[in-house]
Amino acid sequence: MLDIKTTKTTTPKELPDKDDPLKFGTIFTDHMFIMDYEEGKGWHDARIIPYQPISLEPSAMVFHYGQEMFEGLKAYKTEDGRILLFRPHMNAKRTNNTCRRLCIPEIPEEDFVQAIKELVKIDKAWIPTKEGTSLYIRPFIIATDPFLGVRPSHTYKFMIILSPVGPYYPEGLNPVKIWIEDEYVRAVKGGIGEAKAGGNYVASLKAQIKAYEEGYSQVLWLDGVHRKYIEEVGAMNIFFKINNVVVTPKLNGSILPGVTRDSVIKMCNHWGIKVEERLISIDEVYNAHKDGLLEEVFGTGTAAVISPVGHLRWENHIMQVEDGGIGPLSQKLYNTLTGIQLGKIEDVYNWTVEV
Ligand code: COI
Repeated sequence: MLDIKTTKTTTPKELPDKDDPLKFGTIFTDHMFIMDYEEGKGWHDARIIPYQPISLEPSAMVFHYGQEMFEGLKAYKTEDGRILLFRPHMNAKRTNNTCRRLCIPEIPEEDFVQAIKELVKIDKAWIPTKEGTSLYIRPFIIATDPFLGVRPSHTYKFMIILSPVGPYYPEGLNPVKIWIEDEYVRAVKGGIGEAKAGGNYVASLKAQIKAYEEGYSQVLWLDGVHRKYIEEVGAMNIFFKINNVVVTPKLNGSILPGVTRDSVIKMCNHWGIKVEERLISIDEVYNAHKDGLLEEVFGTGTAAVISPVGHLRWENHIMQVEDGGIGPLSQKLYNTLTGIQLGKIEDVYNWTVEV
């Protein structure tokens, strides 16, 4: 159990207006959590302080070799005033999987969840309640040794910041357009593709700009070896409903193991819908579309929730998914997931954790 020292702000910021659409990741709450790591001392000095800039040496290793990781989860306020987190222990476990891959010291699962709970409690007035909004929680760790040699740092900072958010995509629940990338790759097996590391996202920017310029919201990555098998989308995992079967790429070492991905698979299993986690090639999707069997496509992610895909572009082929609107399964998954997160639907899976 962490002993967290708290210093409250003396100059609280104005809360966003209730009707503010809350553009994703632009507003930050009054407080943040910090804890330091030093070899020999371990993680220590857990504290909640007013949200503020941090001071680092320009030689801090994170700036040079990118030794850093991050997570994303959300807090929700229920109609009867409770505060719920969604599967925070899964984020804690994934944090430590990422830490092991990036040679960052692990954080005890219970400490990770406790730090989030205490910070969210202090800034609970910032949890928005308008439809489609939530409090996004961003834990992250950076390497802070002032050193230019390539090796794991001996010192780190673990921080958590909070941001009231609306939908990740401006489209909201309207289907997004996805660009299937055939020039650049995001990750390969053996690399850091399954880690939640900033490096995976910087690797995606070049293709994302290309896609934006063509009027697409996100990039869908193909595998880096055969350039054939579907991996994931920029900010989410991807699912296809083909001829009544839900298919998603299996976790192969280069795909992020999403919490929402896992939740969707479990909900479909619970409803008796067949789910296959396997290799799925872009040709298979293209042929299914040609044969009229591509029924739904949707992305899943903490930020993206369930995000219908209405249009895919692969080389010179345009695939419009059904009538381009949200499909019935995507809508049911969205309603059930957000219903559980907001405490409106019974949580038969035991996913929510009260703060
Ligand atoms: C999340 O969904 O929480 C993520 O970390 C994706 C990020 C690109 C917003």
